[in-house]
Amino acid sequence: MKRIAILGGAAITVFLVAYGAITFYDYNMKIGRMWETPAVRPHEVPILAMDKNTVPVGGGEAAVRLVPVQRLVSPLSGADPAAVNQAGQVLYRTYCIHCHGKYHDGNATVGQSFAPLPGDLRSARVQRMPEGQIFSEISFGVAGKRQPPLATTIEATDRWRIVAYVKSLGIR
Ligand code: HEC
Repeated sequence: MKRIAILGGAAITVFLVAYGAITFYDYNMKIGRMWETPAVRPHEVPILAMDKNTVPVGGGEAAVRLVPVQRLVSPLSGADPAAVNQAGQVLYRTYCIHCHGKYHDGNATVGQSFAPLPGDLRSARVQRMPEGQIFSEISFGVAGKRQPPLATTIEATDRWRIVAYVKSLGIR
């Protein structure tokens, strides 16, 4: 019994000494403490606010949304198609591939969680859509369907690059 008490006392003493030493070391450590390194505080500076009653006088997606899809034309029609398609492919791999897949057939990790599944982008139906319609669908989504609206995610010219790339794939 006495032995257990001595051992227990020794264990507690060792624990307390170690705890004290670690705490002392911790409080006196000169580098690497999070509260001593500069903190990144998002929005520490207030975000610029527009004056009350400010209205946009040009550009913006709202104006594009009002144009009938047949009249939406790519600003890239004069550009080198190979360069446009190459840029479009890079953008597709960033913004579409996780849903529409490497082979554009809708077989992809994220896409599989949708019902209905993302369609085949090389189907005759999609390939025969006017460019403006594909642009509108990826920009604003389709009412009652699952394509996410990406107008605020992807810059307009980049969306046209993706459309050109998708069209360049042709019917499977
Ligand atoms: C978060 C997943 C997701 C992302 C990201 C996504 N799509 Fe889709 N897409 C879908 C789904 C799901 C559908 C099927 C919509 C439906 O029928 O309800 C669809 C449908 C479409 C359609 C219409 C297909 C048809 O058969 O009518 C086109 C075209 C399309 N997507 C192109 C794109 C392009 C180009 C991108 C990249 C800019 C993209 N999508 C990004 C999920 C996604």
